[in-house]
Amino acid sequence: MYNKMNRTELEALHAILTEEYKAAKEKDLKLDMSRGKPNPRQLDFSDGMSGMPWGKEDYISSGGDVRNYGMLSGIPEARKLFADLFEVSPQNVIVGGNSSLNLMFDAVSRAYTKGIMGNTPWSKLDKVKFLCPVPGYDRHFAVTEYFGVEMINIPMNEEGPDMALVRERAESDEAVKGIWCVPKYSNPGGVTYSDRVVKEFAALSPRAADFRIFWDNAYYAHDIFAEDSLLNIITECEAAGKPDMVYEFASTAKITYAGGGVSVIIASEANIKDIEKSIFYQTISYDKVNQMRHARFLKNPENIREHMKRHASLLAPKFRAVLEGLDKNFAGLGIAGWTKPNGGYFISVDLTEGTAKETVRLCKEAGLALTGAGATFPYGRDPKDSNIRIAPTYPSPEELAAAIDLFCLCAKLAAVEKLLA
Ligand SMILES: Cc1ncc(COP(=O)(O)O)c(C=O)c1O
Repeated sequence: MYNKMNRTELEALHAILTEEYKAAKEKDLKLDMSRGKPNPRQLDFSDGMSGMPWGKEDYISSGGDVRNYGMLSGIPEARKLFADLFEVSPQNVIVGGNSSLNLMFDAVSRAYTKGIMGNTPWSKLDKVKFLCPVPGYDRHFAVTEYFGVEMINIPMNEEGPDMALVRERAESDEAVKGIWCVPKYSNPGGVTYSDRVVKEFAALSPRAADFRIFWDNAYYAHDIFAEDSLLNIITECEAAGKPDMVYEFASTAKITYAGGGVSVIIASEANIKDIEKSIFYQTISYDKVNQMRHARFLKNPENIREHMKRHASLLAPKFRAVLEGLDKNFAGLGIAGWTKPNGGYFISVDLTEGTAKETVRLCKEAGLALTGAGATFPYGRDPKDSNIRIAPTYPSPEELAAAIDLFCLCAKLAAVEKLLA
């Protein structure tokens, strides 16, 4: 335990770690654990999709020719595929373009310009606030920051967001209009919301009539070591008499191609009608040829699950390399805690307070790129300067083992320097 060491011991340790760091720097490493993107070998799993549709008949959807305008809410085959996957009706699904983040941005943008279901556009209000479970996904926070929303940190625990705080904020303040959620294998903690948390979400009685839960189910099918189960928020909200309170989002970015997949928004029929009214002006139709390719290639939920097992077979050794490296280097030191997710794309590490930025800096100088410290919090401000997101998907297991050793060395050096200061 570093915090049990006296000054002389810490100084001796500091000298050893500094030597190790110097030696690591001389290796001229070029490592990267910053990017939550699939490795090319994962992309190869969807090679069967290139060249599709294959023949003229494949362009003909039950809703018409996918090469032509029309079917604004998506081709029936793709709507059904996602309806089956998320256990809702096709009328609850709009299949969009290549990015779910784009659909989320559009949802906030619509709320600002037109208002949700006849409510006052957010642009006409003095203040709009969003609840942001932390640590969370930087691109969510970037969307709300872009629109000038005031973001309020909500701590995450092992069951999901602190629901007492969510309830207190949403039910007392009309300016609170929404909450960002990644309910399965959260980015970055890998937390799956418990049944209790999902039910508490459905039972919310927000002050704002146009409060929406932004339920970004990006990692719904992304099991690696086990299959976490997540309650269906759409049916839970329906059962609680609040069918309109949620917008659910997902995409195939980490199923087929990142940036070249298809996205979905899932919501009550009333919400879907409200959204359709706006997208009518926004586009004549999304890329339905790509939707058809995906519907033909992915086929059904069972097939998607089989497909995801191939991803898991590549990702499991990578996540294991990171977790074993953290165990080996940090055990018993009392300077770090980390998550052990069953799936998703990330591992979240909490270091000694006040050392995350310095650790990232030391890593960078020695050739290891990490997601910036603070990125997992609104405005890029981690009040404890402690959280770091590890993205193990892109590098090889061997590169990851080397990267984790270096990361831990830098974190130890930063922790000792903090104690000595
Ligand atoms: C939680 C979460 N949502 C959305 C996305 C982006 O999805 P898309 O490529 O469909 O925009 C990511 C990508 O990392 C993510 O982690």
